[in-house]
Amino acid sequence: MLDENKVPLIQVEDMKKYYPVKGGIITHTTGHVKAVDGVSFSIMRGETLGLVGESGCGKSTIGRQLVGLETPTEGRIYYNGCELEEIRKNKKEMERIRTKLQMVFQDPYSSLNPRKHIYEILAQPMLYHHISEKSTVEQDIIKILDMVGLPRTVLGRYPHEFSGGQRQRIGIAKALSLNPEFIVCDEPVSALDVSIQAQILNLLKDLQKELGLTLLFVGHGLGAVNYVSDKIAVMYLGRIVEYGEAKEIFNHPKHPYTRALLEAVPVPDPKEKKRGRKLLQGEIGSSMNPPEGCRFHPRCPYASERCETEAPVLKGSVHMTACPVVLSGTEVASHG
Ligand SMILES: Nc1ncnc2c1ncn2[C@@H]1O[C@H](COP(=O)(O)OP(=O)(O)OP(=O)(O)O)[C@@H](O)[C@H]1O
Ligand SMILES: [Mg+2]
Repeated sequence: MLDENKVPLIQVEDMKKYYPVKGGIITHTTGHVKAVDGVSFSIMRGETLGLVGESGCGKSTIGRQLVGLETPTEGRIYYNGCELEEIRKNKKEMERIRTKLQMVFQDPYSSLNPRKHIYEILAQPMLYHHISEKSTVEQDIIKILDMVGLPRTVLGRYPHEFSGGQRQRIGIAKALSLNPEFIVCDEPVSALDVSIQAQILNLLKDLQKELGLTLLFVGHGLGAVNYVSDKIAVMYLGRIVEYGEAKEIFNHPKHPYTRALLEAVPVPDPKEKKRGRKLLQGEIGSSMNPPEGCRFHPRCPYASERCETEAPVLKGSVHMTACPVVLSGTEVASHG
């Protein structure tokens, strides 16, 4: 029998997601956006994997494939050792698994029906999926609201009557209401002000521990991601360029892109300016026509001729990096 603690809850093998681009008067496909272009990783039960990278690198696309909202163009996703595409063939089983795979969005307003009050928003899916009975659903909802720090008085209110932070708590309650095992938190704090960000991050961290949840935490910056994650994957233009233990990535980044991301973490120290932090120049390239070789080479201060032609693969056993120029750790000592 499979020991479920030894099988990753989520396993991704060489996943690609290409979106067709239409053009012309007669709409035909003129190319593809290679949003995700060959990523592999796994997340053990009870673990939080942080996914970071600039806007447009494919983070949300990965999230949507993992919770079954979309199907990858190529590659495999395993949930608890079973391939998601196989599960999908059995409609009833897929419906059950979909409740186990939830998503918390950056803008919870978009996932909350503005015409329904909070009781309806939470109760309907719980009843539909037989997670609760009519006679107990209100009590069950009150317990969930309590977990996310909201009073029972919110039940009769509508989404627009809440602040951003409160709305995100409702978004988290909605995800929790279906007894999930895995939650993709897609930039859940990016739209909130700094003090509220800390509250929501702490809430997610506590819930993860308390309920033994497995999380994929998506973020732009390494600061927040490092705070909640056990492991971190750094993405650049559809690929993972560095992967490892969160502490290790944060304190000893190897890939020049990860180093550049760390340079972008604000430091409340005026002397930092004088030390000349190397901030990332230029724009993330096009995912329709990604650069040949290493996709980061046009922006990389260490790029050599080899980087223009050779696409580096993710190498290493624990701390993995996709860069042949693995730099010495001393240059980033200021982050240690
Ligand atoms: N449905 C779609 N059709 C076509 N292109 C898409 C679609 N969804 C995403 N893309 C493209 O795929 C790429 C990756 O998008 P994605 O939303 O995954 O990025 P992201 O890393 O989440 O960015 P952000 O940090 O801004 O949320 C982008 O170039 C985007 O324009
Ligand atoms: Mg996104």
